[in-house]
Amino acid sequence: MPKPLVAANWKMHKTLRETEEYLRRLLALVGAEPPVELAVCPPFTALARAAELLAGTPIALGAQNGHPQREGAFTGEVSMYQLADLGVKYVICGHSERRRLFGEADAFVAEKVRAAWAYGLVPILCVGETLEERRAGRAWEVVERQLSAALGDGLSGPLVIAYEPVWAIGTGVPAHPQDAQAMARRIRAWLLARYGPLGEEVRIQYGGSVKPENAREFLGLPEIQGALVGGASLDPESFWRIALSASAPSP
Ligand code: 13P
Repeated sequence: MPKPLVAANWKMHKTLRETEEYLRRLLALVGAEPPVELAVCPPFTALARAAELLAGTPIALGAQNGHPQREGAFTGEVSMYQLADLGVKYVICGHSERRRLFGEADAFVAEKVRAAWAYGLVPILCVGETLEERRAGRAWEVVERQLSAALGDGLSGPLVIAYEPVWAIGTGVPAHPQDAQAMARRIRAWLLARYGPLGEEVRIQYGGSVKPENAREFLGLPEIQGALVGGASLDPESFWRIALSASAPSP
């Protein structure tokens, strides 16, 4: 199993100047050999500058989205091919905000995952149920549908899966660690049943209101190999404290 991956999803935050300031501060904290893998996913406007600042450092660059077509008449879109050209390593696919606010369907998410692999990127595939679905006892059914749709053609490259229950995102109310653990275990079993030993290589992150104060509750779980962090990743010290929780022994 590779090192845990703790990734910052800034969403629609930070100017170019703020990006530079953040990365300088984060790099000073991280040093040469951090105990976990770190990735930062800035907005598109800051990607090129972030690529320059992170080149040769242990912090990987991620993007929050990417279009599966290599190029073409897709006004407002940025392609996986263009991201790869910048030196981006990770790309978030199927975040619930994109599914919910921008109407991205399972089939489109599947195209993105395939395209990410085709251009040498590592997809961070987001899955997760709404509160209504959880209350109706349908959490696994929904996650299983999202997994099957996105990965139906098999694993053609390295993969990260972020389990992000929709109701835990940006609410300050994370999932119960035991529920996150149970879901991660089901995801792992599903991967192993479908893809055999390859399924062992996939890192499963938890995302949804992860903060320095609760990070260890998730990152100490045997089934969880990292976190996808929104709000609490916007400050470099806070993000670094979360990352350090992934390497500390469980409480
Ligand atoms: P928050 O950490 O702000 O809840 O966001 C989680 C998320 O959506 C990361 O992709």
